[in-house]
Amino acid sequence: MEQYIIKGGNPLVGEVEIGGAKNAALAILAAAVMTDETVLIDNLPDVNDINVMLDAISGIGATVKRVDCHTVKINGSTIGGLNIDYDFIKKIRASYYLLGALLGKYKRAEVALPGGCNIGSRPIDQHLKGFRALGAEIEIKNGKIVAEADVLRGTHLYFDVVSVGATINVMMSAAMADGLTVMENVAKEPHVVDVANFLNSMGANIRGAGTDVIRIRGVKSLRKSEYSIIPDQIEAGTFMFAAAATKGDVTVLNVIPKHLDSTISKLIDIGCEVEEFDDAVRVVSKGKLKCTQVKTLPYPGYPTDMQPQIGVALALAGGTSTITESIFENRLKYLSELARMGANVKIDRSFATIEGVRKFSGARVSAPDLRAGAALVIAGLAAEGITIVDDIVYIQRGYENFEGKLRSLGGVIERVVDAKEIQKFKLKVG
Ligand code: UD1
Repeated sequence: MEQYIIKGGNPLVGEVEIGGAKNAALAILAAAVMTDETVLIDNLPDVNDINVMLDAISGIGATVKRVDCHTVKINGSTIGGLNIDYDFIKKIRASYYLLGALLGKYKRAEVALPGGCNIGSRPIDQHLKGFRALGAEIEIKNGKIVAEADVLRGTHLYFDVVSVGATINVMMSAAMADGLTVMENVAKEPHVVDVANFLNSMGANIRGAGTDVIRIRGVKSLRKSEYSIIPDQIEAGTFMFAAAATKGDVTVLNVIPKHLDSTISKLIDIGCEVEEFDDAVRVVSKGKLKCTQVKTLPYPGYPTDMQPQIGVALALAGGTSTITESIFENRLKYLSELARMGANVKIDRSFATIEGVRKFSGARVSAPDLRAGAALVIAGLAAEGITIVDDIVYIQRGYENFEGKLRSLGGVIERVVDAKEIQKFKLKVG
């Protein structure tokens, strides 16, 4: 089992290149099979979740050609099956985007029902509500969602919950339904807009993505496209908080600063200096960080995927901070790990009170999920002494070459597999 070993105490300083947005890429890869022509997708992050999605797509017969580690060509004309196995769903929930994509294109799809996961129970009722509203019959059979329609018809739909997944999934089906679909109370995240832009680049007619109402005029078929995925605002934000927690000076390159508004605003609240450029943001952290209150909300609110990263910075800030996690019920577990490094935290279900401490001390901790895992690495970089992070397979799902990028900023971190390598690292860093 791979682990990260970190010698903390170095401020992170320098520039780091941000990759393509994983969550946009997952949906765009699914949408790419909706045409029988070849689609070229660029700026893909080279992370495990993307490889699983590509396997799921080739598993149903689509032709997948890796041009290089960030570029792929997909041709959906060779698809032979419409059944996505539990093996894929178990590894990445987002393979359920193939439900919306296949239902839109073929009017039929079977996808294993996703279960809960480490961060919460994660129902998919809003996805199913949307497919039903378009006229699909949905049956849950043998652990699978079987969706089928003679014809998908445009509809007027109001989501009860703002859901990224449901907005994207239903948007994909509606893109190839007959007539006009109006979806209200939709998610406005940058990756929802990116998927809409990608579908439009294939000839779909989708308007309003990025606002509360999306209007989709269905088209009969989609065509080839070449598309580059937007930068990952969560990867960028992670490095920005790594700068904050280590008293560093980091410039994230290749970002869309607008997508980082809520993150930037919180960094300023806690006392960092932030400089925005056309496609870069610099974060400088000097002096003691200040406490603040954080509540996670759908975009443009503060993202739940950036909650653990700010939590680590707040645990080192002066005074008492609070975190309200309003999107997923089980996303504060990392704070118990952080307490093992000396953080002073109280957790009451989805609410945490954090009393800042002067320093963390290195410890052995486990990554409970992807973003919390990255946050614990930041904690290790800010801590005195050696930290070992277990279960880094979660981190590898969503961060490309995380340790390499951190090293380029002066972080002392290695990926290790056994006690011998740990010993070697300890001897090297003294
Ligand atoms: C996506 C992101 C994830 C991020 C989350 C919130 C991907 C692959 N994942 O997840 O990283 O943390 O958005 O920004 O893009 N809900 C329902 N019924 C539904 C669907 C959702 O009640 O049918 C609830 C969820 O339990 C949660 C809230 O709605 O409380 C938001 O979930 P949603 O936006 O759907 O998250 P995901 O798309 O799963």
